[in-house]
Amino acid sequence: MVSNLKKLTALCESYTSGYSELLYELERETHLKTLNPQMMSGHLQGRFLSLLSRLKRPKAILEIGTFTGYAAICLAEGLQAEGTLHTIEVNPELESLCRRYFRKAGLEKRIHLHLGNAFEIIPQLKEQFDIVFIDAGKRDNGAYYDLVIDRLQPGGFILVDNVLWSGKVGLKAKDPDTLSILEFLEKVKSDQRVETLLLPIRDGLLLAEKKPLQHRG
Ligand SMILES: C[S@@+](CC[C@H](N)C(=O)[O-])C[C@H]1O[C@@H](n2cnc3c(N)ncnc32)[C@H](O)[C@@H]1O
Repeated sequence: MVSNLKKLTALCESYTSGYSELLYELERETHLKTLNPQMMSGHLQGRFLSLLSRLKRPKAILEIGTFTGYAAICLAEGLQAEGTLHTIEVNPELESLCRRYFRKAGLEKRIHLHLGNAFEIIPQLKEQFDIVFIDAGKRDNGAYYDLVIDRLQPGGFILVDNVLWSGKVGLKAKDPDTLSILEFLEKVKSDQRVETLLLPIRDGLLLAEKKPLQHRG
């Protein structure tokens, strides 16, 4: 199952437009300098995040889990002229690498990197968001969702990464991570405030679009 997903991703990437020299450099450096480079969104998912953001033209984006900043840079490609992206990372060792790439991308004034625990930082942010990308501790997905759903504009998206969990979600595996992802998927599916779409991109990407008030069942 895992290698099938990897092969499918490689095939899709081979027919997906390339990305900037800067993202290529960041991808290489992430592989050279971090222990878990597979946490990075990468080519296929990065291009999808960029496209979605360019279609949406968000004023404010929130990312939970920056890692080396790859997805933040992709999502920022669609920001409105005065738009900003807040991204939260608990690991301080990643700060200088992220800031260097945000600077190289000319995004240092538009991407606000917050170092610390997302559960403490999110309540301090004032914005209503157009896109929220949840990509941190998988067992915390439900808690992050509850924390951000009221901070999302109607018509806005919550995106959640790794919801197929290397295929284990499809196999209904019984380990705690898979069980918590299944529980989370059921929770969002039954939430009348959103419309959901689970895309088999890379490790599974859930999109939950917040319905306008008059369209809620
Ligand atoms: C999968 S990586 C993020 C990848 C990045 N979004 C991308 O697509 O390139 C998850 C990151 O979340 C961070 N993280 C985990 N728990 C967190 C928390 N409570 N608050 C903030 N960051 C957290 C981890 O340190 C890790 O760098």
